[in-house]
Amino acid sequence: MRYAISGASRGIGLEFVRQLLARGDTVEAGARVPSEARQLASLAREAGARLRIHSLDITDTDSVKAFASRVGEAPVDVLINNAGIGGKWHPLVDMDFEDMSQVMETNAVGPIRLSSALIPFVLKGNTRKIVHLTTHMASLADNTPAGVYGIAGGAYAYRMSKAALNAGMRTMAVDFREQGLITAVLSPGWVQTDMGGKMAPTRVEDSVQGMLRVIDELTLVNSGRFFDYQGKELPW
Ligand SMILES: NC(=O)c1ccc[n+]([C@@H]2O[C@H](COP(=O)([O-])OP(=O)(O)OC[C@H]3O[C@@H](n4cnc5c(N)ncnc54)[C@H](OP(=O)(O)O)[C@@H]3O)[C@@H](O)[C@H]2O)c1
Repeated sequence: MRYAISGASRGIGLEFVRQLLARGDTVEAGARVPSEARQLASLAREAGARLRIHSLDITDTDSVKAFASRVGEAPVDVLINNAGIGGKWHPLVDMDFEDMSQVMETNAVGPIRLSSALIPFVLKGNTRKIVHLTTHMASLADNTPAGVYGIAGGAYAYRMSKAALNAGMRTMAVDFREQGLITAVLSPGWVQTDMGGKMAPTRVEDSVQGMLRVIDELTLVNSGRFFDYQGKELPW
């Protein structure tokens, strides 16, 4: 199978590449600054033609188009919209609105921009899947002190951006259902990466292994939904 992924330089994206290569898949990996993605480069040395690294900034339309033109040389079976940022978690009275715009641009608009550019090639693929990395924190229903991690309130930009991404995914699921597109938003859990920090309870290996299982099991029947990395369906 041939996968395309954004944000492959580190964290969850890098681990997706590692596990996909280990099971024999081919990966088209996007990294903002490939020359700085040393761990990705070392995977490429071992993987040969099964891993190609491309420059990709999902906030930049020219960069996304250039990525799509190289990756679109052949059908893409699965697109993983992984790249994202946490932004500043300032309280309402001290909001940094430039940062909020950047978070919205990266987490909500960026995955839609990349999906728009790649969907012709995904629809020619064997499995026709697009998944997006979201978060429990995008759940409106879970935003209470009794929520999964007990993190209620705050993180306005991050929550809003991923909730908007969830809405975009639902729309994509409806619009392309008849063409066989299978799509979902996946929460990776709270994961030990630069974003998640060292206190996070979930190892990146376990999160990615779980998400790959969920992606493999996605069909048109459960398309358009919100799952965590263990396959549990989450409330909007
Ligand atoms: N870790 C968690 O606990 C957690 C929880 C819920 C959801 N998530 C989601 O999971 C995804 C991966 O998170 P992570 O923990 O692996 O984060 P991370 O360690 O901070 O890595 C983020 C990745 O996204 C890339 N990126 C950021 N902005 C980009 C842009 N404009 N264009 C292209 N790539 C860009 C980064 O590239 P550079 O190296 O160039 O910066 C990096 O490869 C994100 O969407 C995040 O919101 C993570």
